[in-house]
Amino acid sequence: MYCVQEIAPKIFWVGGSDRRLELFENMFPLPNGVAYNSYLIMDEKTALIDTVDRSIGQIYLENIIHVLGGRELDYLVVNHMEPDHCANIDEIVRRYPNVKLVGNQKTFQFMEQFYEMDMTKNYLEVKEGDELSLGSHNLRFYSAPMVHWPEVMVTYETTKGILFSADAFGSFGAHSGNIFADEVDEIDVAEARRYYSNIVGRYGTQVQALFKKVGGLEINMICALHGLIWRGEKISFILDLYDKWSRYEPEKKGVVLVYASMYGNTENAVHVLANKLAQRGIRDMHMYDVSKTHSSFIIADLWKYSHVVFASPTYNMHLYFVMDTLLKDLSVLNLKNRKVSLIGNYSWASAALKSMKEQIEKMQGMELVGEPIDIRSALKPEGEQEIDKLADAIAASFN
Ligand code: FEO
Repeated sequence: MYCVQEIAPKIFWVGGSDRRLELFENMFPLPNGVAYNSYLIMDEKTALIDTVDRSIGQIYLENIIHVLGGRELDYLVVNHMEPDHCANIDEIVRRYPNVKLVGNQKTFQFMEQFYEMDMTKNYLEVKEGDELSLGSHNLRFYSAPMVHWPEVMVTYETTKGILFSADAFGSFGAHSGNIFADEVDEIDVAEARRYYSNIVGRYGTQVQALFKKVGGLEINMICALHGLIWRGEKISFILDLYDKWSRYEPEKKGVVLVYASMYGNTENAVHVLANKLAQRGIRDMHMYDVSKTHSSFIIADLWKYSHVVFASPTYNMHLYFVMDTLLKDLSVLNLKNRKVSLIGNYSWASAALKSMKEQIEKMQGMELVGEPIDIRSALKPEGEQEIDKLADAIAASFN
């Protein structure tokens, strides 16, 4: 049975949700599932904007068949060639052999890399600013390279001011009937942030470039490929968040304490520090064990808050590898502009602190706060002064 919504006159949401998938991109946990959005415009010509993941292919095809009501599909606009959106292109071409696939040169290069089926006769190549009239609706195409792949375009419907934004402004989380951000009881900002920071986070500069490109357009609705549709006052809500996130600017002051600990000694030192920070008036603190919490949740909080404490033991004369992986991930994601404090731990050869320091120093705009502490096996009362000093330095840096 089809499951669609008309989101604007003659423009239909024809996507769906998947709550069964455990890991997005086989990496990121999906406690609340994920939505794959696709949109179908019915006019003198019909145009589908992107497809969906293979997992919901059947309901997706039912949706399209229902909305088309026996008409032909004239265009399939391919804003993004990642398989969670392009997985049904070949099936669409089999069912609608005259459909024109609208994309750019890179789109078609990727199409040929992913598909064996020859679809070259269906190609309609567009360039920056090109327009496609569907009758009363009109589409204009803008390239948005590396938001999140190089071929990405966004499509602007000029008569209604609707931006089909590909991955930009998307979120993790399946739909629960309400597909507009202004309809839900509470927007799950944490899942939007986790999606942004982990999936698009590396490409802040490119997101800013997209902002410049579409900044002068009248935008009444933003239709991303994942998550809720943004309209009305919710547009500035998500634009403001994306602007902060893509400039690597913390949303608020707070301390994220991230530790690795084999037997609880490094963990204890972090608790002692957090306790002292609390006594100095620091209120917004979040603590994570890197071996327990999936890195995507930690990374999302690091995008949100101003301060971070990394604490880790030495392992095999290197940095404990789960912490090492997290720091490498943060470096790849280009996290910048945070205040960082460090605690290492070792029993016979110190390596963790040095490695953490080197990795943080290579990242842009990171400010080391306080004197790094290197514990020998376990924090003792005689080491309390060092922790006090570090707590003082962190608290002072809040002002
Ligand atoms: Fe949801 Fe970059 O794909």
